[in-house]
Amino acid sequence: MSRGALVSLEGGEGAGKSSALASLRERIEARGLGVIATREPGGTPLGEALRALVLDKAQRGLCAESELLLMFASRAQLVREIVEPALAAGTWVVTDRFTDASYAYQGAGRGQPAARIAELERWAANGLVPDLTLLLDVPVALGLARAHGRGEVDRFEQEQASFFERVRSAYRERAAVEPRRIRVIDASRDIEAVRADVVAAIDAFVDLRAGGS
Ligand code: TMP
Repeated sequence: MSRGALVSLEGGEGAGKSSALASLRERIEARGLGVIATREPGGTPLGEALRALVLDKAQRGLCAESELLLMFASRAQLVREIVEPALAAGTWVVTDRFTDASYAYQGAGRGQPAARIAELERWAANGLVPDLTLLLDVPVALGLARAHGRGEVDRFEQEQASFFERVRSAYRERAAVEPRRIRVIDASRDIEAVRADVVAAIDAFVDLRAGGS
């Protein structure tokens, strides 16, 4: 049996990840592959508890170091409890965010050194890097307007636009450095146009893996 693939979705606030995730999952299933969906932070009982903590606006004093470690505590648990066993069993895993988010938010956003994040990626995330990442790219003002239109904002969503500009730039730079793994999708368009690009990207990736194995 061949190993499953890890596919992550990334993007700023209001990029439309939820509907893209549903399309991604449906399409992988339609291609006859077993798939589970998860999210970060979260995805395990520990991870969901940590998610509630890091998104809680009452955690005003949370320092950048704690924030980074909490993200990786959630990730360490998710990798060992869910992702690695699923991939080993041939199941595909789609995740709403993975380590690229830590480079963007804790690295570029909060100023944590990339080398420190890379070290955590090696041991806490067990060196696991997504096989494919779809970056839903949206201008900050548009994304924030969408996110704020959804109702109450979380601890991250209340950050300044400059924070999200750093996050967006970091994501785009990572995509420029790793264009084969990270595919940029223009998420300023309507849901249907984004969905079509998500489906085309996953189809191409499934075809590539089928051809290569
Ligand atoms: P969500 O809004 O996509 O559900 O993600 C929750 C928030 O967590 C989002 O504002 C980004 C943030 N986050 C980080 O700061 N670092 C990380 O490593 C991850 C996975 C998420």
